[in-house]
Amino acid sequence: MMTTLARELKSAFRIESVATVDNGVQVTWKDGHESFYHNLWLRDTCHCPECFQRDTLSLNSGEGEGHDPLKMPLNPITETVKIDREGNLDIIWGGEEPGHHSVFDPSWLRVQCQKEPALKQRRTPQLWDSSVSIPHFDYYEVMKDDEALLLWLEKMLELGVAIIDNFPKNKVSFQSLVERIGPLQQRYHPTNIFTLDTANKLAGSIHHAYQYMERLHNHTDHVSYNVPPRLKFLGCIQYDNPDHDKQAYSTLVDGFKIAEVLRAQQPKFFELLTKEYIPTGRRRLSVEENVSDREQGSKKYQWDTYHRQHVINVDENGEVYQIRHNENDRVPLDVSHDKIQDLYAAYQAFTTLAESPEYVAKFLIAPGQVLVNDNWRLLHGRTAIRNPGLRQILLGAYMKPETFRSRRRLLLGKKSGLSNIWLMGCSERALEILADRTTI
Ligand SMILES: [Fe+2]
Repeated sequence: MMTTLARELKSAFRIESVATVDNGVQVTWKDGHESFYHNLWLRDTCHCPECFQRDTLSLNSGEGEGHDPLKMPLNPITETVKIDREGNLDIIWGGEEPGHHSVFDPSWLRVQCQKEPALKQRRTPQLWDSSVSIPHFDYYEVMKDDEALLLWLEKMLELGVAIIDNFPKNKVSFQSLVERIGPLQQRYHPTNIFTLDTANKLAGSIHHAYQYMERLHNHTDHVSYNVPPRLKFLGCIQYDNPDHDKQAYSTLVDGFKIAEVLRAQQPKFFELLTKEYIPTGRRRLSVEENVSDREQGSKKYQWDTYHRQHVINVDENGEVYQIRHNENDRVPLDVSHDKIQDLYAAYQAFTTLAESPEYVAKFLIAPGQVLVNDNWRLLHGRTAIRNPGLRQILLGAYMKPETFRSRRRLLLGKKSGLSNIWLMGCSERALEILADRTTI
């Protein structure tokens, strides 16, 4: 089995030769790439049953066990280094640990190479404007086919949005779609699927999102959470518009795109929104919610949040990874007097871009469609309803970032065909490379 697979591996994942060099092992690959692995790194990451528990997929690092970090020799010495019959790197250690035997899968070893250029490549999202064409997926295909599911998740990273067609217009099917990726995010009350129904006149007292007669400006959800939800699902059960125009249409804007426009046009404003705080909060008292998604009965729940957040969040490379923007959830500014005017002007510039027709896509979530958007990237809104006779019912749910990442990691791992002991602990980029390691 392993030998068949070895033949199918691309040359980058097959070892040509190995040699011991100063403090480590030099591996030459069949595609010509050369890697160096430090002996201590190799010894520390040994996956033998003594060092690594096969059932829990974690280091066996208890006192006196195979991988006790306090007993790890800082200068491990290799006795023999060779390629075994299955193409693995095979090391027998000498020195303080004579006979200790480590075997390393070559594909895994390749994506651990610090000089591997593919590992340095970052996925760059495709930025878009009002002309975006939103990718569509079929409900039944993503429900039954893992490849279709992975394609959908890839689109979520590339564009931050997708529409799932042909969803049976009920709560159970909606929940099944979300759970195809993973559990719904727990809200602050037990009901994790919420209903946006234009006929519910009381809901307007809960949040701006339910005040249908006004345009709902583009925003991201739950800006006052420490970690905002990553995916937002909105499934349409009903849309009856007597006027046949664009009332209650969805609007979306690519937050990464408008952040880059701001960075290019007004770099000082961009910087202010990445460094200064725009605090946000939410306080809901005595709001009745159902006691569960399945049971009858309601109860009053209370909630009060506050977060000192940046509108534009950048990583250590200066790349934007998260937008947090909701005009309605803003609370008093926390900025020095000498910066308040500049910060406010920056906030106005970003808010203007978020509503600019050049960047905003406008469309209907039709009955039987589920809109899924990346709430760390996209801002969403809704056009106003003028006609009280219009009826729209949407179901909504959220998903945590880890739940989304986890499903994608699992699908990439499955596609790679590697065993669990090697998949465990790989970076996302490593998993992407491994998913594409065979020639078929
Ligand atoms: Fe929202």
